[in-house]
Amino acid sequence: MEVIETIARMLARQAEWRKSGREVGLVMTMGYLHEGHLGLVERARAENELVVTSIFVNPLQFGPKEDFGRYPRKPEQDLAMLEKAGVTTVYFPSVEEMYPTGFQTSVEVSEITEVLEGAIRPGHFRGVTTVVTKLLHAIGPQRTYFGQKDAQQVAVIQRMVRDLNFPVQVVVVPTRREPDG
Ligand code: PAF
Repeated sequence: MEVIETIARMLARQAEWRKSGREVGLVMTMGYLHEGHLGLVERARAENELVVTSIFVNPLQFGPKEDFGRYPRKPEQDLAMLEKAGVTTVYFPSVEEMYPTGFQTSVEVSEITEVLEGAIRPGHFRGVTTVVTKLLHAIGPQRTYFGQKDAQQVAVIQRMVRDLNFPVQVVVVPTRREPDG
């Protein structure tokens, strides 16, 4: 399993994959992985020759009163889990790599981000769609996998992918529950 930390290397790898015609499935995460993430990886493995998982705790999707700094992080454990799960490549950029000084562009879906979770977390979905755009551009997957449990997030990403004609299929994977529900 390869770990890539820079956008330049990720884009170079994407170009090689395209040239060789190999299909890529992407599972985006903020790390601190659990069975639900592994379910997405399993589905991606079944449908693609190569599987990329991104690990990036995205500061843009945290509000000023939500603690980005205290979001749980266990990178070593995550990498061991992903290696065991058969992931080809982990994309693991730093905040500086994703948002260098001077960064000032965002991607925003309107109406459907103004209700439900969007109504109580202003700016949250703008942060999500901005990072998802950057990850899709850097990795260039044919398919990307999201858990059905984050229903509004899925609807927002599907809307963005349709509206902006991203050449990627969004695959929604049913929620995997613990035995106690
Ligand atoms: O669902 C998540 O873990 C995040 O919102 C995502 C899609 C990885 C973007 O940071």
